[in-house]
Amino acid sequence: MRKKIQQILQEKDLENQVVIAGWIRTRRDTGSFSFLEVNDGSSLGNIQIVADQQLANYKDEIVRLTAGCAVEVTGVVKESPAKGQEIEVQATEVNIVGWADPETYPLQKKRHSFEYLREISHLRPRTNALGAVARVRSRLTMAIHSFFQERGFIQVHTPIITTSDCEGAGEMFQIKGGKEGEFFGRPAGLTVSGQLQAEVYALSLGDVYTFGPTFRAENSNTSRHLAEFWMIEPEMAFCDLACNMAVARDMLKYCLNDVLTNCQEDLALFDNFIEKGLIRKLKNVVEQDFKHITYTEAVDLLLKADKAFEFPVSWGIDLQSEHERYLTEELFKKPLIVTDYPAAIKPFYMRVSEDGKTVAAMDILVPGIGEIVGGSQREERYDVLMKRMEAAQINLDEYQWYLDLRKYGTVPHSGFGLGFERLVQFVTGMTNIREVIPFPRTPGFAPC
Ligand code: 4AD
Repeated sequence: MRKKIQQILQEKDLENQVVIAGWIRTRRDTGSFSFLEVNDGSSLGNIQIVADQQLANYKDEIVRLTAGCAVEVTGVVKESPAKGQEIEVQATEVNIVGWADPETYPLQKKRHSFEYLREISHLRPRTNALGAVARVRSRLTMAIHSFFQERGFIQVHTPIITTSDCEGAGEMFQIKGGKEGEFFGRPAGLTVSGQLQAEVYALSLGDVYTFGPTFRAENSNTSRHLAEFWMIEPEMAFCDLACNMAVARDMLKYCLNDVLTNCQEDLALFDNFIEKGLIRKLKNVVEQDFKHITYTEAVDLLLKADKAFEFPVSWGIDLQSEHERYLTEELFKKPLIVTDYPAAIKPFYMRVSEDGKTVAAMDILVPGIGEIVGGSQREERYDVLMKRMEAAQINLDEYQWYLDLRKYGTVPHSGFGLGFERLVQFVTGMTNIREVIPFPRTPGFAPC
């Protein structure tokens, strides 16, 4: 029976016959047999195949196997006499499924730089690090869904093509289609956020969430920005800012706990080679309370900081990455929730507070990344919202549906956006966001 290597390594079922399908990592010959290290992507660990020279294709094929060749091996699980592994597979048959020319195969045994690997994004998942990222990313996807589904949230598929620019920052990719160029009869683009549509469903179904691709045409070539990324956006009716913060914090802790339990082998690799102390860092986040300060307190702390920032600090500025990172990495050394930002720097949909100057917004900042979550309580009062939209020069006719939600059974509601790649970055310790999405899209870069 064909089995995943991960399962065989776990079961250690001696004398069991197995069929393995995977790719050669290395071949080593001794006098009368060869050792083949095979990986099938199911785990970080390879399985060692012992191929005896008695095998029919030993001289013609097996001794010509090199890194990258695809094989299907039938064999029997044996106790391994070698150090560092408990079992190996004594091959009874080695079928070569696909050869890989060693002269041109781009992955050598040595460690390649992540920059080089980005140039071969069609082969980089065959490396230990990128394979581990893919497995952790998949596990995190499931953890997100489990978290929300266990709590009765309903997943909503919000549109990818949209005519509303949620964040209003002019970062939408425009869509042209059809002969006339305007397929929908009005300008349309790729979504920058599913929030406004999620609000529609929250005000019918209560607790909902979206998990989908998101596009931003911002020209920021940083280690934390992508032009295409995935965002999780829960939206909760009858929920204020405090409730919103609690959901975001519980979700982050739930996800970290899940990977700490289920991705131990991959996390150990990241802890050893990518970010020393990673596992301790993740455990701390699960165990500790998050620190909570207001924007005004954050500005005071930054003004008192014995540190020269590139962007000068004063009340009213948008906090820059250097400010966020100082607060979470140097000052508090743990996740930090910052709330109550100036209304002037935040989008129209955020709820205006009693003071008239701030909005019920919250960002969660984490060490090494900065902002990982951005959210708010939404403005549920028709008149206040309309004034905010007018001030932002939004065409009210186009957003009548959004205003209608405040006209028919409006309720306090709130939600947030979690940048999925930033979460994967935080969990894996990868310094560049381009390593945590299979096919990164950044300005000037979209190879396959
Ligand atoms: O803070 P943002 O822009 O918030 C929204 O879009 C709201 N509509 C969310 C909501 O309230 N439903 O983005 C949310 C998160 C950020 O905190 C960040 O983690 C991530 O999305 N993000 C990006 N990730 C990768 N590349 C980019 N260019 C990103 N821009 C935002």
